[in-house]
Amino acid sequence: MIDNVIAIDGPAASGKSTIAQKVSETLSIPYISTGNMYRALTWYALQKGLDLNNPDEKAMKDLLATAELTYAKAGDKFEIRLNKQEMGPLIRAPEVTSHVSNLAAMPCVREWMLDKQRSLAKLGLIVMEGRDIGTVIFPGSKNKFFLTASPMVRAKRRLAQSGETTDGSTIESVAREIEERDRIDTTRKTAPLRKADDALLIDSSDMTIEEVVNKIISCVK
Ligand code: DC
Repeated sequence: MIDNVIAIDGPAASGKSTIAQKVSETLSIPYISTGNMYRALTWYALQKGLDLNNPDEKAMKDLLATAELTYAKAGDKFEIRLNKQEMGPLIRAPEVTSHVSNLAAMPCVREWMLDKQRSLAKLGLIVMEGRDIGTVIFPGSKNKFFLTASPMVRAKRRLAQSGETTDGSTIESVAREIEERDRIDTTRKTAPLRKADDALLIDSSDMTIEEVVNKIISCVK
């Protein structure tokens, strides 16, 4: 049993990052967003001109051979870097958001991420969020949570977050984009999004951030 990884999985815009960051601040432990790792790689692939609408395994493997993805400690936080470049807001661009699920469905990409994500456990107690942390990356973790919320609540939350939607986005267009990402994330062959049997399901539709954070922390303790 692994007891130093708090694993939080769930669909797009379910509030995972906000919750995971608060848990990390409250417990003073590192927070790792695996979605940001896939996003950084998507940003890089788009920069290099890969067609992520029809991704090609050979071209992706060549790209992976030239990509170095790291988490660097910056004050209290960890910053993601690709080939030493800080990612910051680049990985929240709508262009990245709309292509990331296609890239994340590629088996060679998931294999490439596996060791990198597992090796982060050497940081000690960490909170890691994504889609397959409880099922594939740390299936032996004792602390697994699956966060969800109704489609409308998720679309509203995403629209309220700046930077990740295009100008003129509506609740309906954001809901469609989220639905499409859910479809790709849950139906892919490798490591699809699903709740681990032993994960605690938390529907945050009618809960405050504080309530969700307290629930997770009390379960961990
Ligand atoms: O959590 P997010 O929206 O930043 O994640 C972006 C995408 O990355 C998501 O649509 C699917 C993919 N992803 C994944 O396949 N596996 C993970 N562990 C994390 C994210």
